[in-house]
Amino acid sequence: MRTSSRVESLRESPTRKIDGLRERLVREGRDVILLSTGQPSIPPPREFREYLASVLGEESMGLYGYTPSMGIARLREAISKDLYELGGITVGPDSIVVTAGGQEAMFSVLATILEEGDEVVLMDPTYFGYKPLIEYFGGKPIFVETEFEEEYNPDIDRLLEAINSRTRAIVIVTPDNPTGRLIRPEIGKALSDVARDKGLWLIIDEAYKTLIYEGEHYWFWRDAPDNVIGIDTFSKDPGIPGWRLGYVYAPRDIAPKIKLVSEEVVYCPPSFAQYAVLHYLESGMRAKHMPRVIEEYRKRRDVLVDAIRRELPWARLHVPRGSMFVFVDFGVDGEKLSEELLDKAGVATVPGSYFSNGKYNTFLRLSFVTEPPERLVEAVDRIARVLG
Ligand SMILES: Cc1ncc(COP(=O)(O)O)c(C=O)c1O
Repeated sequence: MRTSSRVESLRESPTRKIDGLRERLVREGRDVILLSTGQPSIPPPREFREYLASVLGEESMGLYGYTPSMGIARLREAISKDLYELGGITVGPDSIVVTAGGQEAMFSVLATILEEGDEVVLMDPTYFGYKPLIEYFGGKPIFVETEFEEEYNPDIDRLLEAINSRTRAIVIVTPDNPTGRLIRPEIGKALSDVARDKGLWLIIDEAYKTLIYEGEHYWFWRDAPDNVIGIDTFSKDPGIPGWRLGYVYAPRDIAPKIKLVSEEVVYCPPSFAQYAVLHYLESGMRAKHMPRVIEEYRKRRDVLVDAIRRELPWARLHVPRGSMFVFVDFGVDGEKLSEELLDKAGVATVPGSYFSNGKYNTFLRLSFVTEPPERLVEAVDRIARVLG
């Protein structure tokens, strides 16, 4: 029987594919060191879990029922306040749509803005989640190469060359996955100017906005509130990827349209996760929790980077300023190396080609948050042995 050409164009997510291989090896009794996922290894704080346990004890349907499709009003107010406290930006609750994770936020936003044939500018490298969705909606991803030497900040002239009458949006991930770079303020300002001048959407993926080790997040909404659509998630902070909760913020006339798509996809985001995150935001729990998480992840980042510099001093990398990943140039075919590392050495990584249109094929993305420091050192030992 026939299925749609759109569905035929979909492929399993690269990290899911690697997860499958890894699970097979683990079932065979192999020890696999996990540098392939952006899955936090520190659970949400104890108070967060205790709060949920206490409300689960109540004899009420409150926690189990449908919520408004846009998310519960108090949560949207808390997110609005949070955005003001974090970035000094004024985003009203009516501009916020709570979603079932960042992935659903991406789906609903692209479904809302794209027409067949529209072009969307992506940085090369960038998070692999955008390309398949753009194509699914009949759009065309246009890659703009960024340079290692520029710490992956885009060149504005090159960006302008990629823009034409079919361009609908530019996607910027900051802090970035896979590179960990932050957008520099002068580049952020220039990107906002381009979006305003050309009448383009600026989709800002801020999944890692509170996971910054050095530097500051650039808040595009301050420059271009009519153009910016923010994609946010609670998967990384407070660390509940399996609970599927995120949000979008967008100009007030667009948010209700994004909500309509979200309503068709999930009807409403998960209720228990909304109540738990509402408590997380309202109680100020993050102020105690995230500094500890950042300190631990920074330590692991430094352990991984130091080990690479010691054992593989020729490998090229930038110390990531945010996110969960180091993007490393090993100077050989990344897909082959990644396969060999998993097969021969039991180290799971993600090839740079999954994030790039060809330029970063000799890179691997290594996550430093999932494994403890001693396993990160062991992973680099194993990589060095494979590379000889
Ligand atoms: C940059 C970026 N955006 C979006 C997502 C999707 O996040 P979620 O787990 O909330 O679907 C991820 C997940 O790793 C990500 O790295």
